[in-house]
Amino acid sequence: KHISWDVQAAQKDGYKHFMLKEIFEQPKVIRDCLTGRIQKGRVVLPELDALDIPGRLTIVACGTSYHAGLWAKYLLESWARIPVQVEIASEFRYRDSVFLPGDLVLTISQSGETADTQAAIRIAREAGAPILGLCNVVGSSIARESDSVVYTQAGPEISVASTKAMCSQMVLLLLMTLSWGVRKGVLQGDILERCLHDLPLLPDQLEAELPTIREKAKTLSQGYADARSFFFLGRGLNFPLALEGALKLKEISYIHAEGYAAGEMKHGPIALVDQHFPTFAMALGDELLQKVASNLQEVQARGGRIIALVNPGAAPAVEDPWVLPDMWGPLKSFLVLPAVQLFAYEMAVYLGKDVDQPRNLAKSVTVE
Ligand code: G6P
Repeated sequence: KHISWDVQAAQKDGYKHFMLKEIFEQPKVIRDCLTGRIQKGRVVLPELDALDIPGRLTIVACGTSYHAGLWAKYLLESWARIPVQVEIASEFRYRDSVFLPGDLVLTISQSGETADTQAAIRIAREAGAPILGLCNVVGSSIARESDSVVYTQAGPEISVASTKAMCSQMVLLLLMTLSWGVRKGVLQGDILERCLHDLPLLPDQLEAELPTIREKAKTLSQGYADARSFFFLGRGLNFPLALEGALKLKEISYIHAEGYAAGEMKHGPIALVDQHFPTFAMALGDELLQKVASNLQEVQARGGRIIALVNPGAAPAVEDPWVLPDMWGPLKSFLVLPAVQLFAYEMAVYLGKDVDQPRNLAKSVTVE
């Protein structure tokens, strides 16, 4: 399969690694994903208008794209009142899933070539379900096989560890949620207004923050470089981001990391906590903060060291608070994501790993 892109665009542009370049491209990615998508107080997504509003949505994806799907589930349920299930493609393809009238299958894939995700499309097709693709590569297999495609405008992603693609998927999934929520008449006007007001401001805010986030990531990663295992904990929208933080750390620094829903720790994993097994927590100032804070107290009581992403004025007392500026609602996620990406990046650099070409991994997995 031949995938072509501009050689110029594939250069590192002064950055040491493609991964770092791509993390720093995220403000531009958000800008590009929003271009033409917000007009006169409305979300413009003609790709969705061709499809019925889903009665139920099945999101199928792998890896980082799967985490974007998990993140979107929280928003789609809450704002568009659409029941959502998020499936790992390699499981979905061999299960005997039940399809209902009104189902829509949404596949998410950066490359558009992942074999398991393609297989999921065939299964959905056989079941007669309409298929929507969220994809970064124009003309890719998944784009061609879907009934309708929303393209993420992330540009070519070279680093094996995916970064900016997830950011672009989250922007589009947020817009899709707003679009369906409005069409269904269930989305509250103030939420729509707030999103449409704050989203266009996000690229500049993120751009201003990224150097500070990187510096903090560097300092903290060095302080924790002797850890052999990490927990990444979050609740709500931060749970999928915890999974993604753990995945990034595993992929490029080869440190064992487990992403967990913070409230699930007491059901087993907390047995692992001691002073050598640190936790990276998302403890931002949202409605779940008090719950997360009490989960973290339990970790501290067992001697676990904690790095926690927090917002000003609302931070639980942990060993290493990492303050991010406060953003409204789900927009917080667009700062959490580069924080976990840069933590993994700086850790891998510090440990001398091959950031752009991690061992045993491929950019796109086109075989089963
Ligand atoms: C591979 C890559 C991951 C990626 C996953 C899904 O495992 O190493 O970074 O998230 O495939 O890829 P896709 O192109 O379908 O999003």
